[in-house]
Amino acid sequence: MNFAHRTGSPLSESSDALIIPAFNRDASLDLSGLVGEADKALGGELAKIATDARFSGKRGTTLVVSTLGKISPRRIVLAGVGSADSVNAESIRRAWGAATSAARETGARNVSSVLPPAGSALTAEKALASAVEAASLASYRFTNHFGSARKDELTAKAIETLSFIGDISDAEAAIALGSSVASGVALARNLVNEPGSFLTPELMADYARQIAVDCNLEINVFGPAELEAMGAGGMVNVGKGSANEPRLIHLTYRPEGATDSTRQIGLVGKCITFDTGGYSLKPHDAMLNMKGDMAGGAAVLGAMSALRAQGCPNIVHGVITAAENMISGNAFRPDDILTAMNGVTMEILSTDAEGRLVLADGLVYTARQGAHELIDLATLTGAIVVALGEGTAGLFCNDDDLAGRIQSAASESGERVWRMPLTEELNDQIKGDIGDIKNTGGRAGGAITAALFLQHFCEGLPWAHLDIAGCNKTTKASAYTPKGATGWGVRTLIEYVGKRV
Ligand code: BES
Ligand code: MN
Ligand code: ZN
Repeated sequence: MNFAHRTGSPLSESSDALIIPAFNRDASLDLSGLVGEADKALGGELAKIATDARFSGKRGTTLVVSTLGKISPRRIVLAGVGSADSVNAESIRRAWGAATSAARETGARNVSSVLPPAGSALTAEKALASAVEAASLASYRFTNHFGSARKDELTAKAIETLSFIGDISDAEAAIALGSSVASGVALARNLVNEPGSFLTPELMADYARQIAVDCNLEINVFGPAELEAMGAGGMVNVGKGSANEPRLIHLTYRPEGATDSTRQIGLVGKCITFDTGGYSLKPHDAMLNMKGDMAGGAAVLGAMSALRAQGCPNIVHGVITAAENMISGNAFRPDDILTAMNGVTMEILSTDAEGRLVLADGLVYTARQGAHELIDLATLTGAIVVALGEGTAGLFCNDDDLAGRIQSAASESGERVWRMPLTEELNDQIKGDIGDIKNTGGRAGGAITAALFLQHFCEGLPWAHLDIAGCNKTTKASAYTPKGATGWGVRTLIEYVGKRV
């Protein structure tokens, strides 16, 4: 989808469909402003149709009305924004996600739109960026493995150009910001949707190398021999049961010009390209969708890809711990003892608790690269899904200030997080019998003991862990997220890192 901006009068621009924001006031459709003008131009029919359809401008609802040649746009798509007093970035995203999808379903290719409304804490540019972001995200489809017939069917209806009409000072910059966020999310969604045989650790490294070239990032990739030499026992052992060797991928973003290197941010993503469970083999149903066990790494790569366009002010390390958890005569076993990069020994109770083992090395590695704070993202435990359900990430953090900043970034981006405790007493459950720590602590508090395990590897830094096991995919489509991979975390990371100074 291409985006454009023009000044002019929306009702007299010809297009296949014109999107107009509609507000809800006193439980009914607000007929002031452009909605009222459009209604007048259509001889009062718009208000009648809205009443008939019980359309009241509620957030995320839409109404498509044919204009029958009375005005230049062939159709009007009313985009419900909700109450005018509570407009925020998320109401804009939902409205433009739903409205562009409704326009696409009519077969419209050339769509125009009134500028999205600004609010007290929402500039006109931020509102436009949010609309662009959502329109682009709503049009996402994963078509890599369809034959031409299915592909044609899916792409038959697509908006070619979305043009925003109206006065705004920096439309180009806002469009670029929104598009870069959406591209980062689409990249993460593509990677998560890709099956394990199409996304091995080395292929993940290839994607990262391409992003490094395109987005002007430094990159280093380490294989088994180098990981062995670094003492990265988690990475080496989790990866050694697979013919597809593990890779630790390190991307570095450096802002242009003089850089304050005292605020380096470390992002670490779990990237298990397929998780069979290893010898602690997953049962049939639990193994389905384990191609998505690399969503943390995908989110880190997606976010890193947008930092240049976002003008991020800090040095950012993006570290991806890529391995495939498989079975072979070489695989690690229950009862093994592994030594992580910082010398902590890990007693293996389950080879299926592999994410924390690779993250152990990823966190230590990132801390030693000079990061001053660490944020990891991982599809780590089934327990967090039981606790919070689909679509909410568990946030574990040893620093209230960092936790607060991540919570506000998440709320700004429209991604849900819920803070969970690092209950110190539960450390007893992971105290090792013959090694320092056990890699599982039993069923009780499973997401918490996993986080407590990771805490042994944060090297005393402010550290946040996002358990995204319930977030990487969705079984039901919503305004700007189709069914399948969500790309969860990319937007929160960009929001957080983009502003941090
Ligand atoms: N990748 C899984 C966690 C997971 C579960 C992600 C469901 C997405 C959906 C992780 O590696 C795992 O297997 N965790 C185990 C830990 C247990 C063995 C302590 C789990 O949650 O059952
Ligand atoms: Mn596992
Ligand atoms: Zn896993």
